[in-house]
Amino acid sequence: METKTMFSEEEIEKETDRLYEHLQEVGWTREDCKLIAPLTLEINKLKKEKNAIILAHSYMRPQIIFGIADHVGDSYGLSKAAKETDAEIIVFCGVEFMAETAKILNPDKTVIIPDREAGCSLADSITAKDVLELKKKYPGIPVACYINTTAEVKAVCDVCVTSSNAERILKNLPGDKVIFVPDKHMGRNLAKSTGKEIIIWDGKCIAHDEFQEEHVKEVRKMFPGVKILAHAECDPSVVSLVDLVAGTSGMIKYIKEHGAGTYMLVTECGLSDRLQVEFPESKFVGTCMICPYMKKITLKKILDALKNPSPDLIIELRPEVIEKAKKSLERMFIIEKGPVEKIE
Ligand code: 13P
Repeated sequence: METKTMFSEEEIEKETDRLYEHLQEVGWTREDCKLIAPLTLEINKLKKEKNAIILAHSYMRPQIIFGIADHVGDSYGLSKAAKETDAEIIVFCGVEFMAETAKILNPDKTVIIPDREAGCSLADSITAKDVLELKKKYPGIPVACYINTTAEVKAVCDVCVTSSNAERILKNLPGDKVIFVPDKHMGRNLAKSTGKEIIIWDGKCIAHDEFQEEHVKEVRKMFPGVKILAHAECDPSVVSLVDLVAGTSGMIKYIKEHGAGTYMLVTECGLSDRLQVEFPESKFVGTCMICPYMKKITLKKILDALKNPSPDLIIELRPEVIEKAKKSLERMFIIEKGPVEKIE
């Protein structure tokens, strides 16, 4: 069935070629690309007309990453991009805590999340009240919260961390004890890498928690020489079997440095898709897991959100929450640079 579009056949063919150049690496046919070409053309046109920027996490579907995104990255890189942008509108293709972080860092912008159901099991696992109780139970111990938390939780923590700087920041904090919330696996991994005593919370990422030691052992047997890179949100028993534990940006850096080869990425499937396109001479093998929240975001929802966002898709936070949460994010940018004697 032919669908009506505002674009000429020539524009559609050109866009199809552009998409196909990338997406063929992950199994798309030229016909598949032609079907979405009117959508990506319209989103890219609206983006310019509305002075909007599209930030996409590496776990997004490849048609989002290669079709319409202006910046693709990890939680840290996207936070920086959100902080620095001049665009009036930020469309955040990721999950809610990431869009909230963009709003905290650049509160004058309109920040839109294309699907409000794009949540996070880690962010849902802890409340600000829980953090306040921990602080009461362990007075004087610095509180580091993973960026995968709500704005209210960030507002009551001392410093925010991401997968890319958590180890550095925990080492740079004063004392040999840290409260780290909410990811218990990451907390235990950090206890090992920092040598500090970490008071943890019982949160976990539902996607990374699915990985078992067997997944890694099987792939090692099947692909001799494979390099296995795991996200720091995985269980320490899995992490102990891999070549690198890092966040998504650390995994990309490792692949850039080690060159073409066979890799298993122990993380959400979107990263393997992205990297299969960007590193076509490498092979990405083994199991990956789908994050059902990340996968809520689709091209159609992005188009609708850009055209006419329903009010519930626009991130609104109370000014006092923004002010306090911003403090913990700003401390992140300071403490990642070097040790501090006390938390200012
Ligand atoms: P990165 O910041 O490492 O991309 O991780 C984001 C995330 O939410 C992992 O589940």
